[in-house]
Amino acid sequence: MKIGVFCPIGNNGWLLSENAPQYMPSFELNKKIVQRAEHYGFDFALSMIKLRGFGGKTEFWDHNLETFTLMAGLAAVTSKIKIYATAATLVMPPAIVARMASTIDSISNGRFGLNVVTGWQAPEYTQMGMWPGDEYFGKRYDYLSEYVQVLRELWATGKSDFKGEHFEMQDCRVSPTPQADMKIICAGQSDTGLAFSAQYADYNFVFGKGLNTPTAYAEINDRLKAHTDKTGRDVQTYVLFMVIAAETDEEALAKWQSYNDGADMEAINWLMNQGGKDTTSGTDTNIRQMASSVSPVNINMGTLVGSYEKVAAMLDEIGDIKGTEGILLTFDDFVQGVEDFGQKIQPLMQCRQHVVMDLAEQAPVTVLEKSA
Ligand SMILES: Cc1cc2nc3c(=O)[nH]c(=O)nc-3n(C[C@H](O)[C@H](O)[C@H](O)COP(=O)(O)O)c2cc1C
Repeated sequence: MKIGVFCPIGNNGWLLSENAPQYMPSFELNKKIVQRAEHYGFDFALSMIKLRGFGGKTEFWDHNLETFTLMAGLAAVTSKIKIYATAATLVMPPAIVARMASTIDSISNGRFGLNVVTGWQAPEYTQMGMWPGDEYFGKRYDYLSEYVQVLRELWATGKSDFKGEHFEMQDCRVSPTPQADMKIICAGQSDTGLAFSAQYADYNFVFGKGLNTPTAYAEINDRLKAHTDKTGRDVQTYVLFMVIAAETDEEALAKWQSYNDGADMEAINWLMNQGGKDTTSGTDTNIRQMASSVSPVNINMGTLVGSYEKVAAMLDEIGDIKGTEGILLTFDDFVQGVEDFGQKIQPLMQCRQHVVMDLAEQAPVTVLEKSA
């Protein structure tokens, strides 16, 4: 089972609460988190792109860094962990993104990959005059399909003459091309999103569901499998969960309760309102479910709350689900959360024993000097 960290590129991470840790995003913060994650054998770090926040008392996500430049910096200060940035495909031409990806491939020595998103929150794009109109909701994955074909062509051959409805390339060039096979990830939850991933992505990210119900999301693996059966490609799921852990279940639950008590309703209402705008993709996606969610304090993401032992056991349950290859983690407090994961949770996880053993082998052996 692979483990990744979802970098807090926006203020306050993923908790819309006045009682949660309040912090601004910075390179230093993310560097600390990702370097420690690498130290503990995390497999990858991913950052999202968010161009407009939700406001409210906590000014939720009103403060966000830019994903490619952040990840390029992190690529330069790490050596093993895989690094993923997110392309806001509506506002970044594929030929530019292909070149940026090649550049970070060079900085990271082949450790870079790309998350592609269609965009779901119009104000991110209307503010810069780049929202194509709400009819885009109905064809966003057609657009993304063409986009990714251009990327793949440029990386594979250094050249594209792709002609489609959305993109027309004319002897378009990108060189150097990446040294490593450039992985593309997507986070489709709707059927069109899953169909896209089955055809074009290497991995599909999904939202975990519920409180301490680690396997509740599993049905989406079956939906994805129905699509990969048609395309004949192997596309595995990576699932997103927030971990809130402490020495005891009571202590961890008290934190979760406190975050809920301090919920920033103004920011949450904005999110619910925006999440309900796309009426074309069905109600099977988590962002759409925000409109009726009862516990949206962490964007309705699956949440694992409990003692280190309990969280480790729940993470192992995810490891047993067919079709799931990895888990993407957020924490209420990322710096402490990564330390606790590395020192107290991971060593208890059956599905991470290979990493624990590798780390033990790498640990410098302390040679005690004999006294004369
Ligand atoms: C791990 C993860 C990362 C995501 N990153 C972004 C992002 O950076 N920007 C964005 O607009 N949407 C992001 N999304 C939303 C997805 O791209 C997608 O729109 C959402 O999961 C709903 O699925 P659908 O597009 O199939 O309806 C992310 C979702 C997940 C689960």
